[in-house]
Amino acid sequence: MLQTKTIIDVRATVVRTQSIISDVNIITLNCPSIAATAKPGNFVNIKVNTSTQPLLRRPFSIHNVNGNLIDIMVKSIGCGTAIFANYDEGSTVMVLGPLGNSFNITDPHFKTAVLLSGGIGTAPMLFLSKSLAANGIKVINLIGGRTKDDLLGYNLDNCRFATDDGSFGFRGTVLDLLNNELPDIEQEGPIKLFACGPNPMLKALAGYSRSKKLVCDLSLESVMGCGIGICYGCSVEINDPDGGNRTILLCKEGPVIDAQLLVI
Ligand SMILES: Cc1cc2nc3c(=O)[nH]c(=O)nc-3n(C[C@H](O)[C@H](O)[C@H](O)COP(=O)(O)OP(=O)(O)OC[C@H]3O[C@@H](n4cnc5c(N)ncnc54)[C@H](O)[C@@H]3O)c2cc1C
Ligand code: FES
Repeated sequence: MLQTKTIIDVRATVVRTQSIISDVNIITLNCPSIAATAKPGNFVNIKVNTSTQPLLRRPFSIHNVNGNLIDIMVKSIGCGTAIFANYDEGSTVMVLGPLGNSFNITDPHFKTAVLLSGGIGTAPMLFLSKSLAANGIKVINLIGGRTKDDLLGYNLDNCRFATDDGSFGFRGTVLDLLNNELPDIEQEGPIKLFACGPNPMLKALAGYSRSKKLVCDLSLESVMGCGIGICYGCSVEINDPDGGNRTILLCKEGPVIDAQLLVI
């Protein structure tokens, strides 16, 4: 659903940097106006350089909000993320946000939330976990990776892990882990799934949640330019509940969509 909110572009100071694993860092930004209105699932678009390399901003989920501070979890995969990951404390950066819609955590029909994430898809799960817990919802985190070195359970409670190679936790995908745990989890009452990760994982989960009639929010990834609905760089086809398909801009009507809407 499209959500209206005030989007601002602010110069934020880096107050802390922390290395989690070799290519993943947490950057803490003093960003009171964004912290005040951010919701779990929102993202920010950051100008990582004052030069034109890279020219476009880069989108990052809001990993955590703590008072005036927001945390960003950054995985270095290319030019922009490598520059941002190397920011020093005291430096400043332009941050546009909060952007996009948010996870729907107000649905009264679930008592347990199962959060599935893979790779850097774990980034939005801390903010989401804390918001769910504050609403009295039990949270279970299922976290997947190819090997134990890819797992990002940083600061999350009640985590169960899956690795493709069995080097840590359950051997298999995070979806296999869900399938294994579901009978026990469902004994505790109605559940809702929330997921963020690589698109193939989300497609598989969308098919699974539909077959099991489970309500599921997915946070999708796409390449983004402006982050505010101008460049059309993030257009994605979704199922139209009224029939056929329609195109949405993920930066405005996403990144979170109901799993029923994902074209698989
Ligand atoms: C809504 C949203 C939230 C995100 N949240 C986070 C986050 O919290 N932490 C984080 O580290 N990253 C996050 N990302 C991904 C991050 O924006 C990209 O990794 C980043 O833009 C890559 O920039 P780069 O200059 O380092 O890489 P580039 O040099 O631009 O690209 C390097 C390689 O990565 C590929 N690539 C670039 N962007 C993406 C993408 N979005 N998805 C898949 N492949 C891509 C390129 O095709 C290329 O092969 C998010 C993306 C979106 C859309
Ligand atoms: S990123 Fe420009 S329209 Fe979505």
